[in-house]
Amino acid sequence: MANRQKTVYCCTDCGYETANWAGKCPSCGAWNTLTEVRLERDSGGKSTGRVRAGLGVSPKRLEELDLSEEIRFSTGISEFDRVLGGGAVVGSLVLVGGAPGIGKSTLLLQMCASAGISKRVLYVTGEESERQLKLRANRLGVAGGEIFVLPETDLDSILANIDALKPDIVIVDSIQTMSDSGVASAPGSITQVRECTMRIMRLTKEKGLTVFVVGHINKEGSIAGPKVLEHMVDCVLYFEGERSTSFRILRAAKNRFGSTNEIGVFEMADHGLRCVENPSEMLLSGRPENSPGTCVACVIEGTRPILAEVQALVTPSAYNAARRSNGVDYNRAAMLLAVLEKRGGLSVSGCDAYINVIGGLTLEEPAADLATALSIASSYLDRPLGSDLAALGEIGLSGEIRSVSALNQRLSEIARLGFRRCVIPAHGRDDVKAPEGLKLIAVRNIGEAIASVLSRE
Ligand code: TYD
Ligand code: MG
Repeated sequence: MANRQKTVYCCTDCGYETANWAGKCPSCGAWNTLTEVRLERDSGGKSTGRVRAGLGVSPKRLEELDLSEEIRFSTGISEFDRVLGGGAVVGSLVLVGGAPGIGKSTLLLQMCASAGISKRVLYVTGEESERQLKLRANRLGVAGGEIFVLPETDLDSILANIDALKPDIVIVDSIQTMSDSGVASAPGSITQVRECTMRIMRLTKEKGLTVFVVGHINKEGSIAGPKVLEHMVDCVLYFEGERSTSFRILRAAKNRFGSTNEIGVFEMADHGLRCVENPSEMLLSGRPENSPGTCVACVIEGTRPILAEVQALVTPSAYNAARRSNGVDYNRAAMLLAVLEKRGGLSVSGCDAYINVIGGLTLEEPAADLATALSIASSYLDRPLGSDLAALGEIGLSGEIRSVSALNQRLSEIARLGFRRCVIPAHGRDDVKAPEGLKLIAVRNIGEAIASVLSRE
């Protein structure tokens, strides 16, 4: 098997691999993206992940496996620990993906500050010079400790340096700049990215390192060769947010050592990222008082309830009605407008409707339906809902308000943030205990909801 040359064709868009060339990628359907890739190394094929027979590994009984192997340590950044499932795991490779400029390098350098006190850290940078990194470190207040910096892109040299320095934590910034001289394609190409990740992964497991690899997201929103990278690494985190706002969310897309529905919330400030322990407070700050077209929803992100403000602007349109939604799924918004028209008695079909969720948050849960619909209705009727009101409930096609999960948890968060009234689904009302100071308004359908909070007295 040793040095057998093998040629495969790899799609530059999605990373799909095939033995035969084709004009169109069978996986993603893109044209002319299959490029010839020579797998020169023995390590190049799909078999690389396997443990070599020569290492003498034999099967063990499940009961015999040692649990104590999963050792975690804190990164010193509470929100980062939360997303990792309670800290970083020794012997794991974490891929941190995100659009350029979102704050990946900042997050990892900040982590060095606290991790560098008790551990030896090697920061491999292929993007910035030593000087740039030092300037950034100064700005972030990262100093002292066992932090080493290596401006290098050649993988062999990096691996040799890891061997010599024996760090506990390695940061590779970014995988797209790294290249393995044994592979003939350019840095950033699927083959290079996959090959480098594979070799780093092997070293991680062999030496029990904790490695963080930065991956830039391309314009389609995926890390170059997402399919090939995601299955290889232990944990995939995406750093999201809009560059125009300071709000950033770290989300786990895959985690072999924890749950994937936990999120970390950060704010980008002058001196780096700041953990936001109370995202609701931040998202609701600066809310307009008593203006029409705004309502507060509560969604569960991971295990945390988060309050978000949904705003709507509905104006009569002389032409074809336009619909724009930001933070709420477009089809969901269109459905809510249709329900309001047919079941809520509001003629919104001839209106332009703009919907926006403040803070760049995306509301994926149907539990936010009622708040969205009420903010549309409030804008249409030009009557404010009042800034002390929140709404929870999924809306069905016949206008019925359906129950939501974890209602008590959401209600206590709503009450904690000082809201006085909350519209909830009538179904299952008896099982709900109202938190102190919060008046519950149970409704069965959208018509009742509008009548109870938007009617003129
Ligand atoms: P960076 O970590 O370089 O992004 P990435 O590695 O994901 O490409 O973040 C760069 C952005 O963060 C840049 O636009 C400036 C901003 N920033 C701050 O606002 N405050 C800071 O203290 C730092 C270091 C960066
Ligand atoms: Mg960077």
